[in-house]
Amino acid sequence: MFSKETYIARRDRLKKQVGNGIIVLMGNEESSMNFKDNWYHFRQDSSFLYFCGINLPDLAFVLDTESGEEYIIGDELTMDAIVWTGPQPSIASLAEKAGVKNTKATSAVSELLLQAKNSGRAIHILPPYRPENKLKLAEWLAIRPNEINSLVSEKLIKSVVAQRSIKTAEEITEIEKAVLLTNKMHLTAMKMTREGMKESDIAGAVNEIPLSAGGQLSFPVILTKNGQILHNHYHGNTIQVGDMILCDCGAEVASGYAGDMTRTFPVGGEFTQRQKELYDIVVQSHRASVEALKPGVRFKDVHLLASKTLVEGLTDIGLMRGNAEEAVAAGAHTMFFQCGLGHMMGLDVHDMEDLGEQYVGYTDSFKKSTEFGLKSLRLGRELEQGFVLTVEPGIYIIPELIDMWKSEGKYAEFLNYDLLEKYKDFGGIRVEEDFVITKSGADLLGEAIPLDSADVENVRRGELVM
Ligand code: GLY
Ligand code: MN
Ligand code: MN
Repeated sequence: MFSKETYIARRDRLKKQVGNGIIVLMGNEESSMNFKDNWYHFRQDSSFLYFCGINLPDLAFVLDTESGEEYIIGDELTMDAIVWTGPQPSIASLAEKAGVKNTKATSAVSELLLQAKNSGRAIHILPPYRPENKLKLAEWLAIRPNEINSLVSEKLIKSVVAQRSIKTAEEITEIEKAVLLTNKMHLTAMKMTREGMKESDIAGAVNEIPLSAGGQLSFPVILTKNGQILHNHYHGNTIQVGDMILCDCGAEVASGYAGDMTRTFPVGGEFTQRQKELYDIVVQSHRASVEALKPGVRFKDVHLLASKTLVEGLTDIGLMRGNAEEAVAAGAHTMFFQCGLGHMMGLDVHDMEDLGEQYVGYTDSFKKSTEFGLKSLRLGRELEQGFVLTVEPGIYIIPELIDMWKSEGKYAEFLNYDLLEKYKDFGGIRVEEDFVITKSGADLLGEAIPLDSADVENVRRGELVM
């Protein structure tokens, strides 16, 4: 938890930005895995964490923007609960740490909110993504759960996004810690992999790193020889020389901040000729993208630059043809690069995605595209100093997509389907790193771990010790 002054200043700014009515921020509850008392690891709501800092379940926060009164809502533990959880700090002491003067029992919150609602005052809530919070809010506001969305406040969303998008120095310090742990996860995977192992042998070792450092995973580990499957959580394959492993994973530190990186490496000591060709194209695209990062540049344009660089490389080896810019404008590159170049990162690995990608990654006058490829670009808008984001280009050879588009003759002027047929069992490659936008460019977060194919091969052969 940061000092109470941090949370007071954040709430003060929020109060001014929203300007009227009552703001309600919901903390999360414990969530059951398979029976009531067997819980998933507890994860606090990130906006609650950002404005109140308290990492415990069953709390909410209410702020009257006009009177300035604010409350931490929660109940003291019963003796029955203490028997199982041990004593916990009082709600008043938690509120004090967050710089909040008042507390209220959960049973009293409905009266507070209904009074405001019935006198015509606005109630501002964020979009609830957990059903239990939707039900709680419906009960407190005496409406049906399916009416909750009508209370979601665009003004509150925009105010929260405006603050959380620009990371402060104390936030960058936390993100840096998360990325350093993430570096360690990747180096471990890259060094330990041997033919004959199962993917789960490596995924298990990678999982252990943030947990043994007192953190968590920022999302479930993707570790697979089938890197063409974008979010592949299957770890049951045995790996052989000739396979590539795509490892996409990240740590979350105790304060809640995330890291998110990807490396792709050969199971043998070296990439095959074909793997190296495509890997080097992805790295070129990555480097061109990183070079372009600076305030004022639209991330959508960086995505298009990454795509063009991929197309130029793919044209050099004969998988594509024609003019690279025209191919990208037509969307032909999405045969290989179906997703976005990156996303914001902070307290969430895809930061603030619960608030809506349009609000986080775009603006009122710049809407997110619905086209294949671009619809998965979560961040498109102009970059600003203090943004933290990922850059993660890739080449994914998806046999089902080849079959479908080939049968339709789609992008036939740009795609060499005859050669593509021979790549159907290729798999996928992604590299991913995390950056903070500075005054004139971007700084890499964490350490520079091996990226170029020669350096990756040196690690695999045990010749580069980090
Ligand atoms: N870890 C998922 C992503 O890179 O966005
Ligand atoms: Mn990732
Ligand atoms: Mn990512």
